[in-house]
Amino acid sequence: MITVRVPLGQRSYDVLVGHGARRELAGLLPSTAKRAAIVTQQAIPLDIDVGLPTEVFTIGDGEAHKSLATIEALCRGFARFGLTRNDVVIGVGGGMVTDVAGFAAASWHRGVAVVHVSTTLVGMVDAAIGGKTGVNLAAVDGIGGKNLVGAFWQPAGVVCDLDALATLPPREVRCGRGEMAKYHFLTGDDLLAMDEAERIARCVEIKADFVSSDERESGRRALLNYGHTLAHALEIATDYSLAHGEAVAIGLIYAATLAHQLGRIDQVRVDQHYEVVGGHYELDTALPAGVDRRQLIDLMGRDKKALGGGLTFVLDGANGVEVVTDVSPDAAGDALDAMLLK
Ligand code: GLY
Repeated sequence: MITVRVPLGQRSYDVLVGHGARRELAGLLPSTAKRAAIVTQQAIPLDIDVGLPTEVFTIGDGEAHKSLATIEALCRGFARFGLTRNDVVIGVGGGMVTDVAGFAAASWHRGVAVVHVSTTLVGMVDAAIGGKTGVNLAAVDGIGGKNLVGAFWQPAGVVCDLDALATLPPREVRCGRGEMAKYHFLTGDDLLAMDEAERIARCVEIKADFVSSDERESGRRALLNYGHTLAHALEIATDYSLAHGEAVAIGLIYAATLAHQLGRIDQVRVDQHYEVVGGHYELDTALPAGVDRRQLIDLMGRDKKALGGGLTFVLDGANGVEVVTDVSPDAAGDALDAMLLK
């Protein structure tokens, strides 16, 4: 078992990574807890025992259920169960479950402890760590969006039981690999030289470092969005037929292509991106057929992570990955063209 500490002062917590890690879950719960509300989804195997009275709350699958209505239903369930502020919510599932369970916990009685049991690779290396929680705002009159309502609410602990990875559907595996791929470029570590457990734990450690230095994303944490500017645009442009991690994989290649065109990195570094994303993780690196260049540039300009005028990207360079503002739409378009021609 590998334990990674997320250092956040009094809100510091441990992430346990390893086969069978779920058996250590009870040790992460607050000592005050007299009952546990387990938030999960139908298809997720539930093999945990925390030695407390528990009630299981099952939320729906799919983005439509990542909603304020689901938070209300959970809170009504917590009320019926008699969950107090001293008790604990346990989110068992992937990123959607931990985002929703975390936000319900942040809101219930103005904040009750939450512990996450991450059952997907995306959850383990990203979603369950760092305290971002929330739901989507359904569009009314064209206004709404993903993850618009939420809170920073750090968990009291996270379990990444690698046993869960054996049964993941291929698409989930691809999504996790897309998020993992970005970590290869955030530090100088040779992640390819590590075995699965070490590599996942190192991704958690890298994320923990970014989160602890910039919990609310006023600066450095935004670098975790490497590859995400095009990814968000692709998800919207394909009506979400491209899943997030699949879009991040293509977004990483695009970020490298753009950085190269802007003279920030050489071709060898671009090739390393192809090698990791397409070679090692066997993910698609090409833009999907039929995407509209103009629409992608517009969407990237509107990306919620955009910080100032022009387009904003996280790009690799001589000083490592950094936020680059004021990239011209022409340069952004040229990099799309270069990928389309490949
Ligand atoms: N997924 C990026 C972050 O947690 O900041």
